[in-house]
Amino acid sequence: MHSSQRDFHRVVAIDGPAASGKSSVARALARRLGFVYVNSGAIYRAITWYLLNKDIHTDDTQRVAQALQSAAITCRIQDSESRILVNEIDPEDHLRDDRVNESVAHVSRLLLVRQIVGQKLHEYARSHDVVVEGRDIGSVVFPETPHKFYVDASREVRLRRRAAQGERDAITLRDQADLSRSVSPLVTAKDAYVIDTSHLTIEKVVCEILVRLKEMGLQT
Ligand code: CDP
Repeated sequence: MHSSQRDFHRVVAIDGPAASGKSSVARALARRLGFVYVNSGAIYRAITWYLLNKDIHTDDTQRVAQALQSAAITCRIQDSESRILVNEIDPEDHLRDDRVNESVAHVSRLLLVRQIVGQKLHEYARSHDVVVEGRDIGSVVFPETPHKFYVDASREVRLRRRAAQGERDAITLRDQADLSRSVSPLVTAKDAYVIDTSHLTIEKVVCEILVRLKEMGLQT
């Protein structure tokens, strides 16, 4: 079923590559606006965790499809943030495991997976004002929202930020996979407002977005 922005509450889309600062910015922005913060990457990560736990190879599209059809993927809201359960288990503590970091870009290139996540994101926006972060939020999931931002930073800064988080995460490889996949690749939506966060604090980026949203007439 085709959905249009009329079906949704207000949506602020924040896209960008790995470790660009999207999550911190999107979470802080959602708090300032009183919107729900939705992390679409966490849904891709939860699905990846589930497939890895079932020992399903992500190239085996038939088994992936079977596993996902029989899985109950529930998206809730807790403390004004999205939270994912798979078969009633909350995988939050495992979403940034090395093995999930390694496989998530592989899983998220599958059309079926993208359709499932897209539906979940639409469900959130049907009932709440949302700040949604990801890779294809402004370009594919909510193309009609006027509130689109693309948050970027230099590769050096992004590598430093991820290392400072203490994670083993080959972000350059993940970015390449996200940029080059055939379904919903990471792109800058043509009507997105681009912010280079390399030398900006989170607070500065949030302020810049709030100013822009106000100029656009978003009432808060
Ligand atoms: O935290 P980080 O920005 O590194 O990653 P994330 O937002 O948690 O996303 C993890 C992975 O999920 C990305 O590398 C993409 O492969 C995939 N993803 C996607 O394809 N589309 C989205 N809207 C969000 C995430």
